[in-house]
Amino acid sequence: MIYLDNSATTRPDPQVVEVVKKTMERYYGNPSSLHQLGVDAEKVLNQARLISAQALRCKPGEIIFTSGGTESNNAAIKGVAFQYQSRGKHIVTSEVEHPAVYDVCRQLEAWGFTVTYLPVDHQGRVSLEDVKKAIRPDTILVSIMHVNNELGTIQPIREIGEHLKAFPKIVFHVDAVQSFGKLELRPKEWGIDLLSVSAHKFHGPRGVGILMKREGITLQPLLAGGGQEGGVRSGTENLPAISGMAKAIRLLDEAAEQQRSSLTAMHEWLKREIQQIPGCVLNSPAEGGAPHILNFSVPGVKSEVLLHTLEEKGFLVSTKSACSSKANEPSRVLMATGMDRERALSSIRVSLSRENRQQELEQFVAALRDSLDRLRAYMNV
Ligand SMILES: Cc1ncc(COP(=O)(O)O)c(C=O)c1O
Repeated sequence: MIYLDNSATTRPDPQVVEVVKKTMERYYGNPSSLHQLGVDAEKVLNQARLISAQALRCKPGEIIFTSGGTESNNAAIKGVAFQYQSRGKHIVTSEVEHPAVYDVCRQLEAWGFTVTYLPVDHQGRVSLEDVKKAIRPDTILVSIMHVNNELGTIQPIREIGEHLKAFPKIVFHVDAVQSFGKLELRPKEWGIDLLSVSAHKFHGPRGVGILMKREGITLQPLLAGGGQEGGVRSGTENLPAISGMAKAIRLLDEAAEQQRSSLTAMHEWLKREIQQIPGCVLNSPAEGGAPHILNFSVPGVKSEVLLHTLEEKGFLVSTKSACSSKANEPSRVLMATGMDRERALSSIRVSLSRENRQQELEQFVAALRDSLDRLRAYMNV
């Protein structure tokens, strides 16, 4: 099987698995315990915090370990909404956010908050002008993702952050789940107050992530309890997963430049090839998208049919065309770009990681061409 669904999740690196196992076996003390096992576990926790802080260019005290991207987003958005609601109840986000942001905003609307969902252009990009126009005196939060998980579109986070520096009372949250480890990220410099990261997107363990919280921002905690993680995220720390994530971050650093350039080269090659296949249309940005996500459609061929045909040939890709609850509903994100229903219902997402090789992509393109020929012959189109 050739795995091309790395935006859904990545294979944990064997070195990460080793660290998780070792931590479970050796450092099973509770980091809050006063005896030696607890002290040893706390050292491992502190080390992981330091590595995370270095990667995000922030202070160790600004790192909150969570159970992943969904929790980081919920903790950030609800935490700000509940903490600062006396200042105002208006939130700005976009129409193309991941459900872990979008549905949280919907929930907050039901609880009396007002949300502006910014539109996007044909490439799925939010405009700075629209952000500027959306800001009101009662705006307390702007939450915009860095890289879109369906299209790979990169949002103008830096420009938005620069603009928001003039509004110190507005908190800026960025869902960086798809960009961390793939693109340059300078949260502090770019005026980002809160930033979400998830380890399983970069060969780390499932169910662990980071919420970077700039000093000076207060969040109402989602989870009350023992007061771990500066009181923002109570619960005994998941040390094996946290230390596994720290290892995954270290591995990103080791070959960062080389990995990034080979990913970009494979992505560019695949983009060119796909555009040459009759009937395939590119949904991802033609220029300037993230180096690991490529979304295309074959109008007339349902995503699920093509996905399973490719699977039979040994290639695992994904479709975001149907949301799980409503069959035959096209993706909200793709529809927000203004594309028609048929194109949105026939979309396929290929997502790469450092583990993929050019040869695999060459095999994939051959399999795609062959699958489409067969499907067309079968469907008589
Ligand atoms: C952009 C984005 N945000 C948030 C999440 C949720 O992260 P997790 O699976 O760690 O909860 C994902 C995962 O698909 C994502 O792609």
